[in-house]
Amino acid sequence: MNGNLKLAVQSKGRLTEKSLELLKHCGLDIEDYSERLFIPARNFPLDILFLRDDDIPEYVQDGVADVGIVGENIFLEKQSETKILEKLGFGRCSLLIAHPENKQLKDIKDIEGKTIATSYPVILNEFLKKNKIKAKVIELSGSVEIAPSLGVADLICDIVSSGNTLMMNKLKKSFKVFDSQAVLISSEKNSLPKEKNKILEDLLRRIRSVLIARNSKYLMMNVPKSSLDKIVKIIPSLKSPTVLPLADENLLAVHAVIPSDKFWTIVEDLKSAGASGILLLPIENMIK
Ligand code: PRP
Ligand code: ZN
Repeated sequence: MNGNLKLAVQSKGRLTEKSLELLKHCGLDIEDYSERLFIPARNFPLDILFLRDDDIPEYVQDGVADVGIVGENIFLEKQSETKILEKLGFGRCSLLIAHPENKQLKDIKDIEGKTIATSYPVILNEFLKKNKIKAKVIELSGSVEIAPSLGVADLICDIVSSGNTLMMNKLKKSFKVFDSQAVLISSEKNSLPKEKNKILEDLLRRIRSVLIARNSKYLMMNVPKSSLDKIVKIIPSLKSPTVLPLADENLLAVHAVIPSDKFWTIVEDLKSAGASGILLLPIENMIK
């Protein structure tokens, strides 16, 4: 075995593409993934292992992989000796209880006495306990959504992201158990050797800067000198904005980094304060 950091990624599923995309944004040169079990990064001491997502927590716990990217849902369900190093902001979905369209489920108490099919018995049982509900939980490893139409269960508790699977199976959302996203995990019991830990720290630094950059935009605009103070008050910038002179002496160029979701709430205020030529650009990377 080489001294490369071994990162486990879901082999074929919702998180695969976005996990690789995150690594590429971190500057890692990764060969095109095509049905391979193992890919080394060309310019970084890291090997990617493609595994079934359900197995990733255990492999990370036992040190087969040093770190892994999995859904928080799998992380919680598997109760392995692993810990979350970073929430990654993609692969968002919810674990929900759903019922057949032609039935009703108004109050959470209506779950009492029902049979629920799920691949997440640990999380579901905890939810039922917390809400003081007694129900029968049936564990299925896949195709949970067809359980009600087969007459195997009254309800299901499963991951929903777009909602297509529910719709196609004539099911309706009723109660949310929890919201999930992709997370980076490491073992709780095995600590990494010094060299590998250095690689992990470097990777984490890169991941964090990509995540900050994803949530930020670069705002550029021209403003009348006289309204600079007003404009600066409107910008929820991380640092003080950059102010540059322009050929037209009455105008200044103002640049600032802003949270992506803030733009549409401040753009009208900027315009009425006299800002013109407003540009909003994506940020590739941001080092803190
Ligand atoms: C979940 C769930 C559904 C699907 C729902 O599976 O079991 O099959 O996603 O997504 P939708 O709301 O966009 O239709 P998951 O991706 O976790 O795969 P796995 O259970 O096979 O690992
Ligand atoms: Zn799975």
